[in-house]
Formats: sequence, C-alpha cells, structure tokens
Amino acid sequence: MLKLDLSYLNDFIDLAEIEAMQPMLQTSRQILENGTGAGAEYLGWLDLPLNYDRGEFARIKELAAEIRDHSDVLIVCGIGGSYLGARAVIEALADPFSALRPVSTRDNPLIIYAGHHLSGRYLNSLLSALSDYRVTLNIISKSGTTTEPAIAFRILEQWMIDRYGLDGARKRIFATTDKEKGALKQLADIRGYETFVVPDNIGGRYSVLTAVGLLPIAVAGISIDDLMAGAVQARENYSTPLLWENDCDLYAVTRNVLQKRGYTTEILVNYEPGLNYVSEWWKQLFGESEGKDGRGLFPASMNFTTDLHSLGQYVQDGRRILLETVLQIETLREDILINESEENLDGLNYLAGKSLGEVNHKALYGTLMAHVAGGVPVQLLKMSELSAYSLGELMYFFQRACGISGYLNSVNPFDQPGVENYKNNMYALLGKPGYETARAELEKILFPKEDEVR
Ligand code: PA5
Repeated sequence: MLKLDLSYLNDFIDLAEIEAMQPMLQTSRQILENGTGAGAEYLGWLDLPLNYDRGEFARIKELAAEIRDHSDVLIVCGIGGSYLGARAVIEALADPFSALRPVSTRDNPLIIYAGHHLSGRYLNSLLSALSDYRVTLNIISKSGTTTEPAIAFRILEQWMIDRYGLDGARKRIFATTDKEKGALKQLADIRGYETFVVPDNIGGRYSVLTAVGLLPIAVAGISIDDLMAGAVQARENYSTPLLWENDCDLYAVTRNVLQKRGYTTEILVNYEPGLNYVSEWWKQLFGESEGKDGRGLFPASMNFTTDLHSLGQYVQDGRRILLETVLQIETLREDILINESEENLDGLNYLAGKSLGEVNHKALYGTLMAHVAGGVPVQLLKMSELSAYSLGELMYFFQRACGISGYLNSVNPFDQPGVENYKNNMYALLGKPGYETARAELEKILFPKEDEVR
C-alpha cells in the first residue's frame, strides 16, 4: 500500500493552487488515457500489468529456474532503461552481502551489471573475477545498437564462447530486444540465442515490467507475480478521476505547482541504502521524460542519513530551489537491536533496547522537520513494506505520474531526442563511417593544428 502524505507542504502550497490545476490535470489524464498526446505510440506500459504476453511470462519463469540451477552469476548487459529497472528491484530486495557468502550457501545467483559505461578497467576486472563461476549472460537493448552494451557484449560473448563453446554459449546467452529489427536481433538469430521481446509500444525507461526487467528479477529469486500484482493494484488505484483520492495525480500536480513557484530540483530521498537504485531508475524516468524544451524539474537523489553528512548543509541552508520527496518504508522486517553497554563509554545507553529501524525513523522525522523549517517543501511517499508487490506498485505510480506530469509540462514524456547529441559527437570522433564532416569540425575545435592556434 502506497500513500502520499502532503501534510508538510502546508507552508509551501495553498490547497487552492492544487484545486486550480484540476482542469489542466483533467486534460493531461485524458490525453494519456485516450492516447491522443505526443508520444502516444509508446503507451503500452499503461495497461501492461493486465495486458502482457502470458506465454513469454511463463517462459521467463521457466528459464529463470534453469539459470538459477546452472549459474552462480548472471551478467545483465544493458544501459539506461535496459538495466535500471531490474537493478532497482534487485538491489532493493536481494541480499546486499551475497557476494561475501560461499557460493554453496547462496540462495540466488549474483546479478552483475555490464554495458552501462565504457570503463575498460571494470570489464577487464570482471572477466578475470569470473573464472571460477558458472556464468549466464543476458544482453538487453531495445534498439540493439546502443554503443555501451554492444561493445561490452562483443567482449563478453567472445569470453562465453571461448569458455563454453558456441553450443554451450547458446544455453547461457539470452537476448532481450526488438521482436524483429536491430543488430542484436539479427545477431541472436544467426548465433541461435533465445530471445525475449521489448514491445514496440514501450520505451526503455517504462520497460521494467517487460522481459527487460522480469528475466533478471526472476533469476534473482524475486517473485515477478508479486511485482505484477502490485502494478495491477496501482493501475486500479490511480484510475479514479477524483483528485483527492488519487495520490498519483496529486504527486504530478504538487511537483508542478512547486516548479511554478520557482523550485528547480526535486530530490528523491530514501533512508534505506537498498533503495539507491530505485532513485537511479526514477532519475532516468523523470529526467529523460521531462527534461526538454528548457523545462522540467531536475531529478536528483540522496541517500539519508549518509548524505546528510555531505549534502545536508546545502539542503538545510543553501539556495532555496530544492523540494524533497521522501520514500518512507513503514515496516521493515529485518532490523537489529542496540545492545546495553556496561561502561557506556559512547554515551549511547539511552538507545539500548531500541532497534536501528526506530533510530532511522526518528532521523527521518527530525530531518523532515528541520528541512521544512529551513524552507524545503517535503512530501512523504509511504510504502507499507519493502517487497516485490510494493515495488510494482511504486514503479507503476511513478511511471503514470511521469506521463501526466510531462503532459502538464507540455512536453512529450516518451521521447529523448537530447540523448543523441553526445552519441553523434562520439561516433564522429571514433571515426564511424558517415560522420566524416562532423569529425573534421570537431577535431578543428578540439585538436587545433599549431598554425590555427592564435
Ligand atoms: O529510455 C530509453 O529509451 C533509453 O534511456 C534507453 O533505455 C537506453 O538508451 C538504452 O537503449 P537500448 O535499450 O536501445 O539499448
């Protein structure tokens, strides 16, 4: 169960301002639900919790069971929307110290990520660390042409073939990509790798509930049935047009009202380190969806209380451009008690018998009150528990809020044209065929010949 608590926004927003957004909200909702807005060809995620390929879902579960049986490590090779959703769920729910346990006692294969940057040091070290483990590789790319995962896959695939032979590699390499187009689909078909589909009508950052997220999540031993069930519940909860009963719409509205008031940056805050990648996923979702045409709140994230000791000063007292959305987990099953100490040398006996969770809870409210007093609008997004179900709910909540918020901002929330600029320059500088003119222009600026330097 997810609940948005706006009670700490009273000093920052008038209820009338929220009410005044109703007509715009109504229009944005209709555009989203009727598929009449910009990017409407990418709305497949809206009904995905109900309307998905059951056959593929069953195939994912079967394969995940096989991989869990024959592998110690699953490498997820992808970038952006092709890995962040899976990583968000896995790091939130999986044992954070699994790598320290002997392989024979591990409940699940270790999930390792690759193809999400261009570090040779990382890949080199990964390959040398893998030698004693049984490995499976899932390459994920909707376009099938993204440079970072494509390069990493070329290297990892060769390693797999060298290690297992092509026949063996066929049982251990799986491609998640477009159903018919793209270099990866072609390569997988030629080599004979089993493939899973990223549906045409779902963009990368909205794809966590497709095979993109589901296969790695299932291999990590997390119930994808529960994840989907949470999303189904969210879809139902947020279908009501009654604003005050629809937290998803309210969240889309409050962040836009605050943006109009001059706040530029929304920080997604958590008090549980396992949620760090939920924030990374959220940043891509909102950053790529809204950051265009000179608009959009800048999506940032902080892990508290860790970052209170580095960025806390700025939040409390720096430029008043920040708003906070705090992810609160109301009940955490795993906790630890603080012990009594005879000498009490650290003076902490006043906490003896309390759990660390209780201390964290007080830290949350203490920080919240301090930030509100310091001029930071704070809204609380309460998750009743940390589970696959609650994450399914949360992710659907954010995806839907992002679509509505994007339309409230008058942008297309489903494209990302700005992502191409760095790629084009990189291709030109790397000498990719077709980029010769751009290369000459860039080199003139970056590496001027001596007689061109004034
Ligand atoms: O949201 C998006 O569409 C992008 O961020 C993609 O997820 C990312 O660029 C990876 O693309 P692909 O899956 O085509 O490799």
